Amino acid sequence: MLVYSPPHPLIKHWLAILRSEYTPSPMFRSACSELGRLLIYEAVREFLPTMEQQVQTPLGAVADATLVDPSRPVKVIPILRAGLVLLEQSSQVIPFQETYHVGYVRDPATLQATSYLNKLPPQLSPDDLFLITDPMLATGGTIVKVVDDIVSRGGRPENVRVVAVVVAPPALKKLADRYPGLKVYTAMIDEQVDERGYIVPGLGDAGDRAYG
Ligand code: PRP
Repeated sequence: MLVYSPPHPLIKHWLAILRSEYTPSPMFRSACSELGRLLIYEAVREFLPTMEQQVQTPLGAVADATLVDPSRPVKVIPILRAGLVLLEQSSQVIPFQETYHVGYVRDPATLQATSYLNKLPPQLSPDDLFLITDPMLATGGTIVKVVDDIVSRGGRPENVRVVAVVVAPPALKKLADRYPGLKVYTAMIDEQVDERGYIVPGLGDAGDRAYG
């Protein structure tokens, strides 16, 4: 499984803003949305299908042009709640996309994730392209269930890109064991998950910090 953390100063900057306990909620949301834009930009490199055409320029000249193929829109899947903020700007990065919301909540005692919303269509195609957004992959229970949701409907794990702000080793191990063909794009791999299921040093609870 590929886990890529782009070495970009803007990604580091917005991660630092998100980590700080003094960042208020409106700024947390805007930093998360900006970081999402940058990570999605990286995640769709060599992922978006393109087509070759020609366009006429204002000079009356014809230029060869590479365009994103509108016939294969990316299926963007935010994991509620916090995954919503990460994809706020995704439509400015990906010209053709469809959004399918999924909601999972973790039991605070067992840390098991349970679905409370799933807007994925019952049948998916092996050619479909998927981008999942969730700020945090901690124990990995939530993200594995969402990829399971895709695969059980006919999607291929090799066509899934995951965008997360911080990820922890237990989640990466769980994902890599089950879906070695997956690709994860993140601002940082953090050290550990504590006994409450929080990533350390992490960001705190991204959903609460974004939405209260
Ligand atoms: C957080 C986070 C992930 C999940 C990660 O969501 O956004 O979805 O926990 O945990 P895991 O890897 O251990 O499964 P949370 O359950 O707090 O929901 P929220 O976004 O609605 O606050």
